[in-house]
Amino acid sequence: MQNNNISGLIIGQNTIYLDKVASTNDYLRELLSKFKPLAEGTAILAEEQFQGKGQRGSLWISEPKKNLTTSILLRPYFLPIAQQFSLSATIAIATANWLKTKVEQPVAVKWPNDIYVNSKKIAGILIENTLKGHNINSAIIGIGININQTNFDTTSTITSLACLTDRTDYDIKDLARELYLMIQLEYLNLFHKGSHHQLNKYNELLFWKGEEKPFLIAGSEQKGIIQQVSAEGKLKILLDNRLQEFDIKEITHLIS
Ligand code: BTN
Repeated sequence: MQNNNISGLIIGQNTIYLDKVASTNDYLRELLSKFKPLAEGTAILAEEQFQGKGQRGSLWISEPKKNLTTSILLRPYFLPIAQQFSLSATIAIATANWLKTKVEQPVAVKWPNDIYVNSKKIAGILIENTLKGHNINSAIIGIGININQTNFDTTSTITSLACLTDRTDYDIKDLARELYLMIQLEYLNLFHKGSHHQLNKYNELLFWKGEEKPFLIAGSEQKGIIQQVSAEGKLKILLDNRLQEFDIKEITHLIS
């Protein structure tokens, strides 16, 4: 069902609450393939996800009942494929802005779309698009946010709302409703104000922007200064006084 009246969209109005699921993204995709039309804004919220998927084939591991694991169906038919990074940027902006209402520490977006607080990852985003012609037909927006969990395997690189605020009693459903509202607001901004506007806001939130930092590039460590992310979603870094562009597989932030 194509939503030609985007102002009537209410993300999460139809939320399916699950006790346990392999992956909310996979569940939503299955639903989409079986039940047509599935309304834009439909959300899946799971208490436990036992085969959560991360970016680039990684796993998203989340302690049962402690964290927010959700997937949302969007139909950004208005967005040409060439501008698909702006959808990813929009979701990152919404997640970061929502987190800013919860923590006092600065929140940043680590390119391409990880959310960081205090140089530690608190949330990840996995967007799976289907295309139609030159446009995006449907987008499954998967978001995982560490909320009440305080035990992590790799405590040095991961954090949660609980770790940052000394509260472990957050109501995940309430938080999800707030997050859906923020995503709706930013999605409307994408529709009305356009990709360029969202890209500028994304670049304002960019982790390590303007600071000399170490990166792993083609197997060796190099120091560079992040300038911005391009409309195509490439990271632009000043290396040896030369501006260079990188794809996600070509560079790694070396966070100590
Ligand atoms: C990453 O940072 O690698 C992306 C993580 C995305 C995790 C979320 S949790 C809800 C949704 N369902 C999944 O299987 N993955 C995403």
